[in-house]
Amino acid sequence: MKKLRLGVNIDHFATLRNQRKEVYIDLIDVAKTLKNMDVNSITVHLREDRRHIKDNDLENLVKANILPINLEMAPTNEMRKICKTLSPFACCIVPEKRSELTTEGGLDVKNNLSNLESILFEIKQKKQIRTSLFIEPDMNQIKLAKKLGVNAIEIHTGKYSNLFEIGKYNTELKKITEAANFAHKLGLEVHAGHGLNLRNVKNIIDIKSISELNIGYSIVAQSIFSGLKNVIEMYKKMMN
Ligand code: PXP
Repeated sequence: MKKLRLGVNIDHFATLRNQRKEVYIDLIDVAKTLKNMDVNSITVHLREDRRHIKDNDLENLVKANILPINLEMAPTNEMRKICKTLSPFACCIVPEKRSELTTEGGLDVKNNLSNLESILFEIKQKKQIRTSLFIEPDMNQIKLAKKLGVNAIEIHTGKYSNLFEIGKYNTELKKITEAANFAHKLGLEVHAGHGLNLRNVKNIIDIKSISELNIGYSIVAQSIFSGLKNVIEMYKKMMN
């Protein structure tokens, strides 16, 4: 089995930058830093409301070509056009609700079949773009994903992550394990993500049919604790 790849979702770096209407944090610097740390890819979610990643962020990241870019996108015509024009390494189609704080659940492939079919048909014209669907650990969704001819699925681990906090995650973990193994057997690449952190990720790492994890929030959040001491020491040194 191949080494498990780590994709870092950099939306939250953009959130922080936008909060102060600054140009700093430079996402190109973020990508370079992640590359130096042997991260395998970066994920950016260009949302309909552009609340974090902006169009020019995506364009600049594609142009700079520092790490493979996984574009998370809603199944809309606008996103299809952007994806086709910019040709990122991969695209992961996700459901999107304007009011949600983050992607709340997996795609309902069954009820979006013809829309997904036509969007994927267009994107697959650009043969180099790898395609993926963000879905719950559900066998029917996986069968439909296979039918649609995508390269990969990304299993939504949000429910598992929430249940982990109250110690009641076993059933959901079993579902994720079975779904991942099933998809892998069908020849799909299996990714997983959402809500993963240093406490709950070990069980997901142990599922050998999963080849990629996409993690965002907890990497940024944990960096505060792991980096704060360093930064304060840098200031103290300069001040004394
Ligand atoms: N994968 C997908 C498809 C997502 O939508 C997200 C959240 O944007 C993530 C992974 C990362 O989730 P988190 O920020 O909770 O680590």
